[in-house]
Amino acid sequence: MTTIIDGKATAQAVRAELKEEIAARCKDGLRAPGLAVILVGEDPASQVYVRNKERACQDTGILSLPYRLPADTSQEALLALIAELNARPDVDGILLQLPLPAGLDASRCLLAIDPAKDVDGFHPENVGRLSLGLPGMVSCTPAGVIELLRRYNLPTRGKKAVVVGRSDIVGKPLALLLARSGEFGDATVTLCHSRTANLAEECRSADFLFLAVGRPRMVTGDMVKKGAVVIDVGINRTDSGLCGDADYDSVFPQASAITPVPGGVGPMTIAMLLKNTVDAWKART
Ligand code: GUN
Repeated sequence: MTTIIDGKATAQAVRAELKEEIAARCKDGLRAPGLAVILVGEDPASQVYVRNKERACQDTGILSLPYRLPADTSQEALLALIAELNARPDVDGILLQLPLPAGLDASRCLLAIDPAKDVDGFHPENVGRLSLGLPGMVSCTPAGVIELLRRYNLPTRGKKAVVVGRSDIVGKPLALLLARSGEFGDATVTLCHSRTANLAEECRSADFLFLAVGRPRMVTGDMVKKGAVVIDVGINRTDSGLCGDADYDSVFPQASAITPVPGGVGPMTIAMLLKNTVDAWKART
């Protein structure tokens, strides 16, 4: 029997809990949480992501403050906006949608965001905090992965975890989360990437296999140990629709639990963005 991990329902549950928490705290006249969402330029995928994030905020009782800037916005103007939002008492979170148009330096902009308002968890201070095991904002997708493990009661303690993909946004922070202490940490972690010598063998050694490379159906059933938990973070657009990094049909019978694509990890990312925003608000009110 393979459990299908329902990220859509889990994200809905997280969102419902946040909505209730916000309503309870605002009952006595406390201001609602505020999330500033900055989108520079007109990248169509980014426009969809941002719209979804703003809609999710409205659904949950978070005030979404949209900032749409033209693609030719200067670095100075963007930094000035970030400084203004850092100083605003009604703004709890600042989200700068990436990628930025050519000519803008994303690292410099992310560094300018107040780490306490960095709901994406991209600021070096928050990355450092994660690596040191200190409290801080954690990148939303890896945080969502851990939340799925927690809600499906799939503890990683003492297990062999293999993460495929070493991106700053997913693979690296996920490896750190799995290695930190706790029931849904305490794993023995291997971080694989494009230069890994024998990827199939590494994958086969995993009790928990996390895929975050962005290559459609790259991991097949023969690369998965019988009974492994497979968490597929890949979202790949193909001619036959969306698919993950796992070849779902061949991996499914091997796995004891698996996230589908779509409807697995994806919906958790926005849920954790809302959670980070609520956490920032609670710390400031
Ligand atoms: N672009 C693609 N994914 C993300 C994300 O999680 N956060 C931000 N800020 N930009 C992105």
